[in-house]
Amino acid sequence: MRLGVNVDHIATLRQARKTSNPDPKDAARICEQAGASSIVCHLREDRRHIQDTDVWRLRQSITTRLNLEMSIAKGIVAIALAVKPAQVTLVPERRQELTTEGGLDIVNLRGRLKRVVRTFQERGIEVSLFVDPIIRQLQAAQDLGVEMIELHTGRYAEASAPRLRLHQLRQLSKAAQAARKLEISVAAGHGLDYDNVSAVVEIPEIEELNIGYAIIRRALFVGLQDAVREMVGLVSVPS
Ligand code: PXP
Repeated sequence: MRLGVNVDHIATLRQARKTSNPDPKDAARICEQAGASSIVCHLREDRRHIQDTDVWRLRQSITTRLNLEMSIAKGIVAIALAVKPAQVTLVPERRQELTTEGGLDIVNLRGRLKRVVRTFQERGIEVSLFVDPIIRQLQAAQDLGVEMIELHTGRYAEASAPRLRLHQLRQLSKAAQAARKLEISVAAGHGLDYDNVSAVVEIPEIEELNIGYAIIRRALFVGLQDAVREMVGLVSVPS
């Protein structure tokens, strides 16, 4: 299974002082050397962490793939089309949220999404949609012709009661199976950490995990290279 590392929180730290360090570009290089298959960043409309220049510089410097997370707001779409990352992951975005709190409502946003998805695909940019593990949302994703979906693992990660956690894991597994039947590649992410990731790694239909916060948090104590290496180890070997 591949690991994409989200470097947003390197920029969160930098923005605390509005200086030029730490630089997400430097972090991305270390992540790649430590085994990350792709680098993820989220250009939020409020620019709370990643800035426009970060996206350009990451695009120019990374040697794996840039996966740009983004909303479908016009200004953000225009930047993404100019930068031309290998992949975009379309997510819902609310200004007040601390992080992306739910998946896209593809069923209701079908019309707008169709135009945006087509625009990216015509320019050779792969599109992934961030979705909750709900079958009708996956069917709507297939109608849009996207290459990939990313299952939102937040409910699983937040479930503290074992039965609820198992229930959420089963939902993820069923959704991953359904997506593969629809011939859509499956990624997953959000809230995954060193303790909860192994159960998700055991879902064979999931090809990629995108993880940010837990890795950057651990990097404060063990360094970024080891933090990524440890996660690559957990993601590569099913327990
Ligand atoms: N995938 C998507 C689509 C996200 O929005 C996020 C959060 O930016 C992540 C993965 C990573 O989540 P976390 O930082 O909790 O690992």
